[in-house]
Amino acid sequence: FTNAGMNQFKDVFLCTGSRDYTRAANSQKCIRAGGKHNDLEDVGTDTYHHTFFEMLGNWSFGDYFKAEAIEWAWELLTQRWGIDPSRLHATYFQGDEHEGLAPDDEARNFWRRFLPDERIHKGNKKDNFWEMGDTGPCGPCSEIHYDGTPDKNGDAFINKDNPNVIEIWNLVFMQYNRDSGGKLSALPAKHVDTGMGLERITRILQGKQSNYDTDLFTQILNAIGILCNQQYTGTMEKKDIAFRVIADHLRTLVFAITDGCTPSNDGR
Ligand code: ALA
Repeated sequence: FTNAGMNQFKDVFLCTGSRDYTRAANSQKCIRAGGKHNDLEDVGTDTYHHTFFEMLGNWSFGDYFKAEAIEWAWELLTQRWGIDPSRLHATYFQGDEHEGLAPDDEARNFWRRFLPDERIHKGNKKDNFWEMGDTGPCGPCSEIHYDGTPDKNGDAFINKDNPNVIEIWNLVFMQYNRDSGGKLSALPAKHVDTGMGLERITRILQGKQSNYDTDLFTQILNAIGILCNQQYTGTMEKKDIAFRVIADHLRTLVFAITDGCTPSNDGR
């Protein structure tokens, strides 16, 4: 299963393959139910993780880099989609001594063109250095978070599992390759890999508090309710968690089956 938008472009990042374009925009079907990026245990108990989601990506293959990725992300969110700029926060990589990596001051400075310092936050390797797996192309990342708290006081809740303050977009600056010994080396060229969950941005644009209240999920939840003779009420009670788990897993299974997986009682 593909756990990120970048999997099929690994060869381009490593310069072992090429495409006849240097920029792309796509929607990638992703399943995160195992391995390094495993969201399974969060599903249902929160309102914004899924085992299956659509990763909206913009790509630069040795073409544009940090300045453009940040500027265009800002333009899309605030000018094209009209998201309130005062609800947006950005994070950047604070560096890591052990890895010999400096803070990403470049990304921080580009964000200063759009955001006041108090809404630009540094983040550690766990949150701001993106890797698909134990080896392969990777790099510092800069995430955009949406503060959905009523009085916009979400500063302290960035990356703290608060359902009202969620990451909506991750801009990854692919600069390194990690080998099987764990060593990082510079890639031959620099690339951009952005990932935005369709389910999360839909929630913001539809003015909802939960991904499950968007039209990506409401019909599924209604159908489950009819079959179970129950009603989904959007709470954190066990019954509603179960509704969310079933709705989430149904989508995952339907997409997996249409991609050729065959359900069975052993293995996948
Ligand atoms: N590859 C990045 C991610 O999955 C965009 O978050």
